[in-house]
Amino acid sequence: MANSNTAVKVALVTGGNGGIGFAIAKQLAEQGIRVIITGRDVEKLKHAVNELKQQELNVEGVLLDVTSEQQCQNLIDDIDVNYGCLDILINNAGIAIDQWQSGLTIAKDVVEQTMTTNVYGPLSLMQAALPIMKRQKYGRIVNISSELASFNTMEMGMTLAYRMSKAALNSMTKILALELADYPNIKINAAAPGWVKTALGGEDAPLSPEQGADTPVWLATLDADGPNGGFFRERNPYPW
Ligand SMILES: NC(=O)c1ccc[n+]([C@@H]2O[C@H](COP(=O)([O-])OP(=O)(O)OC[C@H]3O[C@@H](n4cnc5c(N)ncnc54)[C@H](OP(=O)(O)O)[C@@H]3O)[C@@H](O)[C@H]2O)c1
Repeated sequence: MANSNTAVKVALVTGGNGGIGFAIAKQLAEQGIRVIITGRDVEKLKHAVNELKQQELNVEGVLLDVTSEQQCQNLIDDIDVNYGCLDILINNAGIAIDQWQSGLTIAKDVVEQTMTTNVYGPLSLMQAALPIMKRQKYGRIVNISSELASFNTMEMGMTLAYRMSKAALNSMTKILALELADYPNIKINAAAPGWVKTALGGEDAPLSPEQGADTPVWLATLDADGPNGGFFRERNPYPW
């Protein structure tokens, strides 16, 4: 089986057709990892794959809407059939559709849409991927969270749906990592990329996508003695 430490590693990066996900995919591929990137927008996906292939990087693009549990399962099954392994899963796809809106009046469907994308999508993918990682006794999962998930930042209100979703993503990170205690070389961590200039982060953000990708890529390529079940920013533990 082509897995773990010697063969070419296989990584899945959701939302890899732009923003931070694209930068993560590029940095992983530059390390010789075969990277599957996903997105919903077919033209954006084609463009991203072409750009990486022009740099002779080992990538492919697959359409995926993470809100469909069936699509998530089918994609993981296809990866298993085609490559016989899945070493790295980056749950990067995410939306922030209630930025700086008040939680006092937020529509429930906005909360629901946010949770479905930012929480249930990653859960579906982790539940589908973990049997492969358990079989391999190797895996790295990185959940792209946010500083805004931290209870240390909750003294300011607003953005309830997004922050609630990322706090839930952090909970899943910790809980699943604990439940996999018998598999010490499967590591599940959450990363806060910082405020990054992307479609989601906006033009005023100080960090580039390449800078935002640094901690996720570090967590995706941790050695066996690396941390597990943690929340990190700039490669350092960040308060829950
Ligand atoms: N930018 C920041 O400052 C910042 C800060 C903290 C955390 N983050 C987190 O970093 C991650 C990446 O964000 P970004 O800033 O790079 O945003 P972005 O440029 O808007 O990219 C978001 C990506 O998610 C994909 N996506 C959204 N909904 C999806 C769905 N239902 N199914 C599949 N893919 C979906 C998009 O694909 P399509 O384009 O094809 O729809 C796109 O590739 C997010 O989880 C975000 O919460 C960002």
